[in-house]
Amino acid sequence: MNFKSQRVAYPYFVVALLLFALQLVMGLYLAFNYFYTVPQAVVDVFPFSTARAMHTNLLVLWLLLGFMGATYYAIPEETQSELAWPKVAWAQLVLLTGTGVAALVGFLFGWTQGRPLLEIPSALDVLVVIGALMFLANVGVTILKARRFTATQGTLLAGLVFLAVMYLFGMPFYENLAIDWYYWWWVIHLWVEGAWELVTAALMAFMMIQLTGVDRKVVEKWLYVELGLFLFTGLAGTGHHYYWIAAPKYWLWVGGAFSALEPLPIAFMLIDTWRSMKDSKRPQPRLTWVYVIGMAVLHFVGAGLFGFAHTLPQINYYTHGSQVTVSHGHLAFFGAYVLLNLSFFYFAIPRLKGFADGRYDERGGHWGFWLTSSAVVGMSLAMAVAGVLQTYLERVQGQPYIVAQSPMRFWMLIVFLHGLLVLAGALLIIKHLLTLRPAPARSGA
Ligand code: HEM
Ligand code: HEM
Ligand SMILES: [Fe+2]
Repeated sequence: MNFKSQRVAYPYFVVALLLFALQLVMGLYLAFNYFYTVPQAVVDVFPFSTARAMHTNLLVLWLLLGFMGATYYAIPEETQSELAWPKVAWAQLVLLTGTGVAALVGFLFGWTQGRPLLEIPSALDVLVVIGALMFLANVGVTILKARRFTATQGTLLAGLVFLAVMYLFGMPFYENLAIDWYYWWWVIHLWVEGAWELVTAALMAFMMIQLTGVDRKVVEKWLYVELGLFLFTGLAGTGHHYYWIAAPKYWLWVGGAFSALEPLPIAFMLIDTWRSMKDSKRPQPRLTWVYVIGMAVLHFVGAGLFGFAHTLPQINYYTHGSQVTVSHGHLAFFGAYVLLNLSFFYFAIPRLKGFADGRYDERGGHWGFWLTSSAVVGMSLAMAVAGVLQTYLERVQGQPYIVAQSPMRFWMLIVFLHGLLVLAGALLIIKHLLTLRPAPARSGA
């Protein structure tokens, strides 16, 4: 850490990690509901839909707080200057966390817009927008004042502005349900397959430059390639959500063709990460690299391969909205954005604490990574099996939705059991990150 104002990143990371744990508890409750019939009296007070809104909104909130903290860490380093307004960054954290808590409590009392992932009521949306403006202004003014422009920070800022603008399309209420979903996807799809990918590419480039000391030009050259491809495939790829919502027919072709190309930039990111690791002779600290490589691999598998598996209309006709979708959603979100955040926390926290060379005591941390990652993979595979069953029984045999649920129960129990391991692993990671100590003195080597 070279600049005092970078310190504001740490509380963002802490809040993000605590919300992560809460998100997982809600996930367990959801999975529980799929194999056990919860008494009606409990459902009346705490229905599945409320827990689901909490699970997914917590997910979005903590990942975004993580991105914001990471940006507040990276921007001073990239611009070689202090943040314009560190106090505003603190106020923004309080505002956004407070809004998040208000939204969660509101869900308990049925205060919701009802649209999945974007349940937050309009009044609170206004506060989110104010928080986003505070954030973008702080970052933008810092860059303008420093007058030092890099491709990495340009990509980061572009991704963040794109992200904020897309949110606006999810705010109005459209009476026509087809139109409502049409714009809903501008937020959901263009976030995870557009804006967030730009943020990921930029933060990965930033970490590569810092971890390997390689020439900025080499890393940034790849950044342009990934950027171009992500935008080319991701924007038109939105069509893979317009197959069955009464949008024009040409989306079947556009969505199918362009989204089938989406794994390409993700594969480039994987190759690029691999090359950077091989080029740096003894990648240290090892655990940070385990995270970075783990992220590149599971990003490719979860988003690229699992996404590709159901993106062609011929297949999506059967799998649409089934547990196949849920399986992809979990592995993609975890591989790409949970692991990106955790990689960044492992990269930045030792530096924020002033440990020499950013090195830390890795003991215990490796368990957390392997336990959580393999449990998420197992959980996603169990969801996929449940999904294939569902697809066959419901869409091929024509069984009613609720009848087809019965044979799926066993697999949802397997999901739940893996979920327990995910939570255990995540608690290990959170404890390790929040109590990070400097690396023990090296003997020889
Ligand atoms: C303890 C671990 C977890 C369990 C047991 C779990 C379980 C579930 C269940 C049962 C659902 C509801 C699916 C439905 O409505 O049919 C769900 C939704 C969702 N979860 Fe999790 N989850 C866990 C962790 C996570 C993690 C780590 C992430 C992000 C990386 C995540 C992201 C999501 C998303 C995005 C949805 C909405 C999916 C969709 O709309 O298709 N969950 N989760
Ligand atoms: C990191 C990137 C990605 C994330 C986090 C992600 C996450 C998700 C989530 C959560 C959903 C469920 C939304 C809902 O209906 O509630 C979804 C749906 C979908 N995703 Fe992804 N995704 C990513 C990348 C991709 C890619 C690259 C492809 C194609 C190659 C893809 C193809 C699809 C398709 C076709 C659906 C719709 C499934 C259906 O019809 O039910 N995704 N994704
Ligand atoms: Fe999509």
